[in-house]
Amino acid sequence: MNMASMGILLIFTVISISIGNAKTGFISLECKAEKLGQYGQQSLLECVINAPDDDTDIRVVTWKKALRSLLVFDEGKFTKKQPGYSFAEPSWNNRNMNVSLLITNTAVEHDGLYECMVVTDSGTDYKTTSLKVTAKYSEPTILSNPEVITLDTGGTLTCESGHGYPEGKLRWFDELKGELTKDTQMEVKVTKSGLFQLSSKLVLGQGSNISQCICSVFNASAGKEEETTFKVLNTPKPPEFQKKLDPATKIVAPLVVIGSLIIGLLLALLYRKRSQQARRHSTIPLMGNHRMVRTSDGEEGDEKC
Ligand SMILES: *[C@@H]1O[C@H](CO)[C@@H](O)[C@H](O)[C@H]1NC(C)=O
Ligand SMILES: *[C@@H]1O[C@H](CO)[C@@H](O)[C@H](O)[C@H]1NC(C)=O
Repeated sequence: MNMASMGILLIFTVISISIGNAKTGFISLECKAEKLGQYGQQSLLECVINAPDDDTDIRVVTWKKALRSLLVFDEGKFTKKQPGYSFAEPSWNNRNMNVSLLITNTAVEHDGLYECMVVTDSGTDYKTTSLKVTAKYSEPTILSNPEVITLDTGGTLTCESGHGYPEGKLRWFDELKGELTKDTQMEVKVTKSGLFQLSSKLVLGQGSNISQCICSVFNASAGKEEETTFKVLNTPKPPEFQKKLDPATKIVAPLVVIGSLIIGLLLALLYRKRSQQARRHSTIPLMGNHRMVRTSDGEEGDEKC
């Protein structure tokens, strides 16, 4: 091939590409660039065809994720329909320019980039849109070892939070919001469904002056989602809960006990009365029937007598 023919070929290619572009310029596909989807909920990936004419006819719509076809409409019929995916418009047809994709039950695997391609009688277009799946972390639980930790004894706290996505962080704070995370290590587990389970251990040394340990779970965008507080007892001996009771509780506690005793007694009395009544009731209907029988034929009977 000489230079001249290569030049001609190049010009020809450029022209044919621009003609191609001119054709696809008739319609355009508009997609929201990114969408947040909540785990377990429906997710909508919005794509709408911008068409110059009202009578634009859609020939092909293809929704794909990583080369896997999810939903394909081709010349009047669906040639692919993976379970869990559908057009968002309930009675979509080839005249409906809203080709948004609906994901019924959002899971971790739905996170990622999607491609939508449309072929119409006035051009072709192609766009991508991404779904960011999030799952809210559960309220952290704190386990302590030993069960009661005092300022003197010290101990180990284990904080756990799960069912979240993407990977988050557990952080520890004291009552003055001073961070205690530095000396802790976080363990991350991934469940079968792709959700994250976080766990972190905090060791409280003997004689530390930390009276409250707060375990907070932060999502992937460093937003605090939930927190749980563990109180370290200030008393030297763990079982002395009495000292912890405030004066109000001291008065209220006996009142509650006496109150429940009285209510219990009343209930017992009521029950006895009821059962006595019930015994009486069981005889009344018999007497009633008896009386009715007597009055209904009693009039005749009376005349006869
Ligand atoms: C497309 O259809 C879905 C489902 O009916 C709807 O929620 C969405 O708002 C529509 N988008 C546009 C741009 O009309
Ligand atoms: C992270 O948490 C913050 C605070 O609760 C919230 O506003 C934000 O939407 C969350 N981000 C994600 C991606 O879940």
